[in-house]
Amino acid sequence: MKFALNVNGESRTVDVDAQTPLLWVLRDELDLKGTKFGCGMSLCGACTVHVDGAPIRACVTPVSAVAASAITTIEGIGATPVGGKVQAAWLDVDVVQCGYCQAGQIMSATALLTHNAAPSDADIDAAMAGNICRCATYTRIRAAIKQAAGQPGADTSEG
Ligand code: FES
Ligand code: FES
Repeated sequence: MKFALNVNGESRTVDVDAQTPLLWVLRDELDLKGTKFGCGMSLCGACTVHVDGAPIRACVTPVSAVAASAITTIEGIGATPVGGKVQAAWLDVDVVQCGYCQAGQIMSATALLTHNAAPSDADIDAAMAGNICRCATYTRIRAAIKQAAGQPGADTSEG
């Protein structure tokens, strides 16, 4: 079945089964491999993308459910005002360790800051709770989110 998707502001046509998870459409059909497969069960957040600005798990979202929506992936998020700030803060704080989870982390962080420009620690913890990092970069993730939000005194030390 053909779907005309809006991905990162571009129209992309794919011919796939309607139940195909968006994750595999992005990676295998559109060659957008920044979005990662971790669990396939909506448990880890590695596959997080935005659909109409909201973070969703692409591993459990059938392509047919998002065919009429604006999809943003890690390849496109840097072009948004908040996404650009988040990516710059990620580099400045040097968040990344192995990197596998980080596309999903950045997508969730950008969604948070888009809707809450000055999140508290509790807001950050709640918004990021579904994004697992096996390298435990959580302290630096929180610091980078605060830096992107323009909050002074972000603690970048390991805790
Ligand atoms: S791969 Fe989608 S939540 Fe883990
Ligand atoms: S940086 Fe390695 S899993 Fe998060």
